[in-house]
Amino acid sequence: MTTIPDPVQTRRKLLEHYDAHRRDLPWRMNREPYRVWVSEIMLQQTRVETVVPRYARWMEHFPTIEVLADADEEAVLKAWEGLGYYTRARNLHRSARMVLEKLGGVLPGDAINLRELPGVGEYSAGAIASIAYGQAVPAVDGNARRVLSRLFDLDGASDALLRRRAVELLDIDRPGDWNQALMELGAKVCLPRSPRCGECPVACECRAMAE
Ligand code: ADE
Repeated sequence: MTTIPDPVQTRRKLLEHYDAHRRDLPWRMNREPYRVWVSEIMLQQTRVETVVPRYARWMEHFPTIEVLADADEEAVLKAWEGLGYYTRARNLHRSARMVLEKLGGVLPGDAINLRELPGVGEYSAGAIASIAYGQAVPAVDGNARRVLSRLFDLDGASDALLRRRAVELLDIDRPGDWNQALMELGAKVCLPRSPRCGECPVACECRAMAE
């Protein structure tokens, strides 16, 4: 019975790789919760490359949650153009008004309370809480799911089992970076059909690879 992946080595190697290769994305320059929240909602159903220019435009129109809450729905939908799935824009707008009216303009500071916002599910709540607030919670999107199922050789595993593995592997000192490193590895290296194992920093920890 092999013991890989070793969590300590896996964390160290993947975070080193992330530090050296991570993309300079606009929402990574500043972890202000409003900025992180908007980026994660945009990234739910839209590719990073498509999000980048729309995110910049959105932040010009609505630099703060107060400005967003005060905006007309028409302006909000206009700024969302090119991203599709407009329910997300309506949910951001509605949430901004809720946060202003009920929470004094401060976004909830942990994953459980973030889930009260319309449009924030388990994965987005984990991403926002870990990136913006450093809360040690996983964020398992489709890419992270594939990476985890290969690392642990758990093809076809339930969401619950994968989430348990994600919790065990989480780097509790850098949970936001860790979650983004996993998602990014899935987007760039651990590809669905032809994974680039030769470029993978954790290939030697990967059970699917060993098999
Ligand atoms: N996919 C969704 N959120 C992401 C993030 N913050 N970094 C990389 N990929 C993502």
